[in-house]
Amino acid sequence: MKIDAVTVFPDYLIPLRLSLIGKAIEDGLIELTIHDLRDFAHDKHKTVDDSPYGGGPGMVMKPEPWGEVLDELVSPESVLVIPTPSGKPFNQKLASEYSTAKHLIFACGRYEGIDSRVAEHFKQRIRVDEVSLGDYVLAGGEVAVLVIVEALARLIPGVLGNSESFQDDSFAIGQMEKLLEGPVYTRPPEWRGLSVPEVLMSGDHKKVAQWKLEQAKDKTAKIRPDLVD
Ligand code: 6GU
Repeated sequence: MKIDAVTVFPDYLIPLRLSLIGKAIEDGLIELTIHDLRDFAHDKHKTVDDSPYGGGPGMVMKPEPWGEVLDELVSPESVLVIPTPSGKPFNQKLASEYSTAKHLIFACGRYEGIDSRVAEHFKQRIRVDEVSLGDYVLAGGEVAVLVIVEALARLIPGVLGNSESFQDDSFAIGQMEKLLEGPVYTRPPEWRGLSVPEVLMSGDHKKVAQWKLEQAKDKTAKIRPDLVD
């Protein structure tokens, strides 16, 4: 998979080269390129923003630098992802869709966002998703890109080892789709007076699976009743 990310703060995306995603890049499963939007601003001050039409606070990102960089990057199989608090909710299903894409382009807005004609224009050419992480406002799209790429990367075959399979995760597509994963334990069997549930040490795989599902349902009902039908 090819991933391009465009930002005015390239250093913000350096963590994508660490850990799990760094390894996926080394292994050739992900090809990541980070672009500095200011390289596509041609005035003396490399201006990427301007005051909003209609007034109001803050600044809006100018469309021309975005048009220029995206013209270089898009091909018919690209998906353009624009993180914004006014987007559709990002979730595991979307992460799963993105994990099978050939080419993802992330456009990180700062300030009050990107001139809306950029999304409008590229929607005429390719799939454009405006996505939000949740109901709160971040200073820019960069942190959202870290989140989205990490969520999709671990779903690419070969990125996670067998010992770190994602089938049991909260929200994993399948049995866990609308469930939070229940509690987990490792050695020692007793710690500070707290014991590991007996069933987990029984060796009865069917009983263990039943218990885990039950725990997941209990936990979900308690802390995310909105997920329960
Ligand atoms: Cl994706 N971007 C920004 N800037 N703020 C957000 C967000 C995204 N999701 C929630 N808040």
